[in-house]
Amino acid sequence: MNLSGLDKSRLPRHVAIIMDGNGRWARLRGKSRIEGHRRGRASVRAVVELSRRLGIPYLSLYAFSTENWLRPKDEVHALMNLLERYLEVEQPKMMRHGIRLLAIGDKERLPPPVLRTLEHAMRATRKNMGMTVVLALSYSGRDDIVQMVQSIARKVRDGVCAVEDIDEEMISAQMETGSIPDPDLLIRTSGEMRISNFYLWQIPYTELYITPTLWPDFREKEYLQALSAYQRRHRRFGRTDEQLNPAPPTVKGSR
Ligand code: IPE
Ligand code: IPE
Ligand code: MG
Repeated sequence: MNLSGLDKSRLPRHVAIIMDGNGRWARLRGKSRIEGHRRGRASVRAVVELSRRLGIPYLSLYAFSTENWLRPKDEVHALMNLLERYLEVEQPKMMRHGIRLLAIGDKERLPPPVLRTLEHAMRATRKNMGMTVVLALSYSGRDDIVQMVQSIARKVRDGVCAVEDIDEEMISAQMETGSIPDPDLLIRTSGEMRISNFYLWQIPYTELYITPTLWPDFREKEYLQALSAYQRRHRRFGRTDEQLNPAPPTVKGSR
């Protein structure tokens, strides 16, 4: 692994990934879409392991959107099975590497055995401090905003806070991502230029990285390229370059 090009002091704190292109990967090889999802799991392992080794504290993985429930039944079923097995197989590794697993999304829609396995994995890893992997499952950015509004409306109704108390901080805290910092880098594989209802509120100044590489082909090398591209970006947050990197003051009489 060549990490020499990366500045370890300027790594993102939070990387979010829209893992897309499993179906196309499979179609290109005359395989079933499900085979594509199966291969995609190795890419999940690769990005989790490299993030852990680099010390990136938060990694969000968009694994299943609420809209993905509309896919053919057998594909949804296969995805749920793969997820369940992934959680079972990876749990000991998460314990060894100090990885905490969090799941966001409408978990109640998951098949009961998957939900049980997921809750077990979350409970077992909840005290791990090395890194947090956020799995977005049956997640919808808009649903997340709806539940945030409902939760704040309830607080106002119950007199816990006043309308004037509502600010960005409160909204962020009421999102499912609660205490997690906003992503610094959002990667989408397979070249699609859209968010597909992933994080909406959470990405006001997130750097976007879209690669044509299909998810099953996105491994360590491609991840390192994304991180290296991130480090070449100038994050201005609305300011000017001059404000962020003031030129050294010219000393009078030195010319
Ligand atoms: C991403 O790959 C996996 C999920 C959305 C669950 P796709 O299955 O969307 O692959 P394409 O976009 O059809 O290639
Ligand atoms: C986005 O991929 C969702 C996940 C990667 C889980 P999709 O394949 O569902 O996105 P669209 O339909 O192309 O926008
Ligand atoms: Mg897709």
